[in-house]
This record gives sequence, C-alpha cells and structure tokens, in this order.
Amino acid sequence: MSETTLKPREHWSGSLGFILAAAGSAIGLGNIWKFPYITGENGGGAFVLVYLLCIAIIGLPVMICEIAVGRRTQRNPVGAFHELSPPTSLVAHGIGLAVLLTGLSLLVFRTWGWGVVLTVLGLLIFRFGWTVAGFMGVLAGFTILSFYSVVAGWTIGYIVEALAGRLRFAEVAEAESFFGTFMQDPRWAIGCHLVFMAMCVAIVYGGVRKGIERWSKILMPLLLLLIMALIIRSVTLPGAVEGVRFFLRPDFSRINAHSILVALGHAFFSLSLGMGAMITYGSYMDRDQNILGAAFSIVVLDTLIALMAGFAIFPAVFAYGFRPGAGPGLVFIVLPTVFHRMPLGIFWAALFFVLLLIAALTSGISLLEVVTAFFVDERKWPRHRAALVLGAAIALLGVLCAVSVADWSRLAALQTTLTWAFGTARDSFFDLMDHISSNWLLPLGGLLISVFVGWIWGTKRAVDEIRHGSQNFADVHLVSLLAGLKDDPSHNASVHIVTLASLWGIFIRFISPVAVLIAFLHTVGWLDFKSSPPEMPPPATEAPAWPSAAE
Ligand code: PFF
Repeated sequence: MSETTLKPREHWSGSLGFILAAAGSAIGLGNIWKFPYITGENGGGAFVLVYLLCIAIIGLPVMICEIAVGRRTQRNPVGAFHELSPPTSLVAHGIGLAVLLTGLSLLVFRTWGWGVVLTVLGLLIFRFGWTVAGFMGVLAGFTILSFYSVVAGWTIGYIVEALAGRLRFAEVAEAESFFGTFMQDPRWAIGCHLVFMAMCVAIVYGGVRKGIERWSKILMPLLLLLIMALIIRSVTLPGAVEGVRFFLRPDFSRINAHSILVALGHAFFSLSLGMGAMITYGSYMDRDQNILGAAFSIVVLDTLIALMAGFAIFPAVFAYGFRPGAGPGLVFIVLPTVFHRMPLGIFWAALFFVLLLIAALTSGISLLEVVTAFFVDERKWPRHRAALVLGAAIALLGVLCAVSVADWSRLAALQTTLTWAFGTARDSFFDLMDHISSNWLLPLGGLLISVFVGWIWGTKRAVDEIRHGSQNFADVHLVSLLAGLKDDPSHNASVHIVTLASLWGIFIRFISPVAVLIAFLHTVGWLDFKSSPPEMPPPATEAPAWPSAAE
C-alpha cells in the first residue's frame, strides 16, 4: 500500500518537538514510581549500573530500530510491518504453523481459552505474516492505556484531595485505609479515570503538531522544574542522606539473574519499546532529522528522570523514619504521610501528584496515538473520529479495570468466564491487562522488531535509512569518531572497519533478540534461575501491585 491519503502526513516541527514528545512517552509512571522502588529492592547503585547497561546495549539499539522503521515507512506499526515485509516469509509461515498446531492440540485437550487464542493467532500469522507484530503493538496500546489511565486517574484524585486538605495522615495505616476507600468509591475511581482519558483524547484530537507536540513542549519543561523543586526539598531535609545512601549504595550481593532480567524488562517498559510507540512517533519525522542523536537524547532524558525521581522520593522517606519496603503502596500511601509531616505539606503533596499526572499524561497520549494512527492510516478514519471513538472504547475497558481493582467480585460474570477459559482470573481485570501487556505483548514485540529489522528487512536497508540525517552513524570509523578525526577523509576510507552502524547491526541481530528472549521466558515463568531477589523488609502496606512488568 502506498501513501494515498488526501492530506499529507503531519510532521513534527523539528527535532526538538520529536525528542520532547518521545521523551514524554518514555517518561511516565514507570520512571517516577517503579524505578526508584525496584532500585531500592534490587541492590541500589549496583542495580542502577545494570539498568544503565541494559539501556545502552538493548534499549538504545531497539529504540533506533523502531524510529528508523517508522520514519522509513511513514506509517503506524501495522502499516510499517506490512510495507517492509517480503511478499512471503518462510519464517513467518513457520511460526504461524507452529502456533496454530499448538492451539489445535490445546483444543483437543479442552484447554479452551489458550486453545482459541493460539489457533486464531496462528491463523493470523499464517495469513498476515509479520504484520501481526504491528497488530500486537496496537493491542498493547489498547490494553496498557486501559489500566495506566486508572492509576493516572488516582493521581488526579489525589491532587484534588491534597488541595482540599484531606491528605492528613499521622500514620501509614490511616493513609492506607484512605487509599482503600478512595479506590472503592466509583465517583473517584471511575470519574478520575474518565477525566484522564478525556485529557488524552483532547490532546490526540489536536493532531501531531498542535496537540502532541505543543503539549509536550509545555509539559516536559514543567515536569523537569517540578522534579527539581521536589529534589531540593527532599535532600535538604534533616536525615535525608540516609535515603540517598539507600538509593545509590551499590550492593552487588543483590545482583543476580533475576535482578538483571528485572532491569531489562523495566528498560523496555520505561523506554516505551516493543509496541510501536516509537514507530508511530518516528513516522512523523522528516528524513533530514538525526535518528541517532534523537534516540540518544530520549534514552538519556528517560534515565535521568528515573534517577531524579529516586532523589526526590527516598531522602524524604528516610528523613521521616519510613522504610522503602512499602513497595507498590509507596506513592499513594507512604508519600502522603511523609508530606503531611513536612512544613507546607499540602503544597508539596499537590506538586508531587501534579508531577506524576504530567508524566502519565505524556505517556498516555502516546499510547492513544498508536491506536489512533492505525485507524487513521489503515481504515482512513478522520483523526478526530479515531481519537474520540478509540478513546471511548479504551475508557470503557478502563472502567472494568477501575472497578475490578477495587473489588474483583463485583464483576463476577467476567471473573468466572476468565477462570473457566484460562484457569485463572488473576487478582483483578486490571492485573490481567497489565500482565498481558507488560509480560507478553511488550517483550514479544521487542523480540519481533529486532528479529525483523536484523534479519527480515535487513540491517543494510535500516542503516541506509538511519544514515539520512546522521552520517556519523555509518560513514565514520568509530575509532576516528571517538578520536575527533571524523572530518579527516583519510580516516574515513571506504574500507569498512568498525562504525557505530556495524556495532548496532551486531547488537540488533544477535544480542538484543537473545537477551529479550531470555527475559521473556523468565518473565512468563518458562525459565527459572531459582534466584528470586534477596529478602526485603515486609511491605508496610498492601496495594495493587502495579506495574508488574518483569516482577
Ligand atoms: N514508558 C511509560 C512509563 O515508563 O510509564 C509507559 C509506556 C508508555 C509504555 C507508552 C509503552 C508505551 F507505548
């Protein structure tokens, strides 16, 4: 299919617009809540080092892949895979057949749920080949946003509650029961979720430049300012240094196969990789923009904000005598109690939840944009219709998540059906959506995109694309580049030595697929290293365990 839409595709106004929008997608609840918490649990500074390594050798190469595929095809993930796929692919047919046969044998053994899912998937792969990888991305956008917006909705509720002076908790137990009541109240849980979805729809409705780019340019600098204010407040509290020490002290005894895979799984979620968000954003890029530089900036910004979040949270938690073992409840239970003990606590609490909301919003719009772009490109829907209809559909799915996380038994029929079909309904519908997307769709998507670019579309064609706007990538010897000799033609002879491109090619063909495959098998429990993380102090609170990616 060629580009035959009436209107030319919208593009970012420049590199900055793209970088801020993509960094906005990457920087989200995963950075501000999950990263500090898993770092504290998995060896502090030692885990940060492992995470940085995962980001550099897996995250960055895959990010470059996704952006290149998007810019090359100027399409959503489904259209992109379709356009770059060969007319017939033996690999795809082989995978399709294997999945189909597995599905049919499960049906024979009356394992209905998985049997039906795998049979349909096998047929789809057989029929559509690699394009199914793009469909999985769109599906992931749908499922992730449905539960992500529920958590984002809680942050809206907490901003209102903070400003109304109701987040006054002398003890964690009070905060815990407040959170429980808050989640169970449909006016708050569903109302705030719908408000958040309306915000996402309004921005995506505005389009690439006037919606996503414009808001990213306002919200991202604001996010940076807020997090800096919170860091200054946090590290200047008496006793704060304990928290900094906890966050960064390298404890290599906690690093094992499990923590490495946690780092890898989180790198994917945090960089918004594996579901075509970067393909979609890359498709709004001009050919003269620098993919390498942009990918590098996004990765650095995402990591920086994750580290900064640790400095904003842990010093304050320790300064008031709390312990970070509170796990998932840290943000909605322990932190409000911490803020209450601070001078001007209402102000700081409101500021923190605004920060969280901004981070969630710029990620939420990228999730909705993936789904919207698919319907705009492939079904030729007008953007405003796509944003409204799909936003409403996701909001509906999100209502099920919001209700189920408060009380799964309220959706007894759904619970029973899922248990009948799959043998488990997990802790809630919310948990199920999270599980499917974070543990299955994202890692599989990451695996498929690296295999596709490395072996099917081919690194040569990918490098041809990337070198537009970034000649250093392929045309300068790496040693000359590092030595500052890149402008000297004698160091750039046509004889191929080592360039960034050749290093990238090796990573994308061998290292990324193998690493992601191992992480995936571990996450779904098919590979067990018998090395769960060392014991942590028991959580002070029980809250919905989100996100469970690679937990
Ligand atoms: N990167 C986001 C976070 O860290 O919270 C989550 C996310 C957004 C994942 C967009 C995937 C995506 F496409």
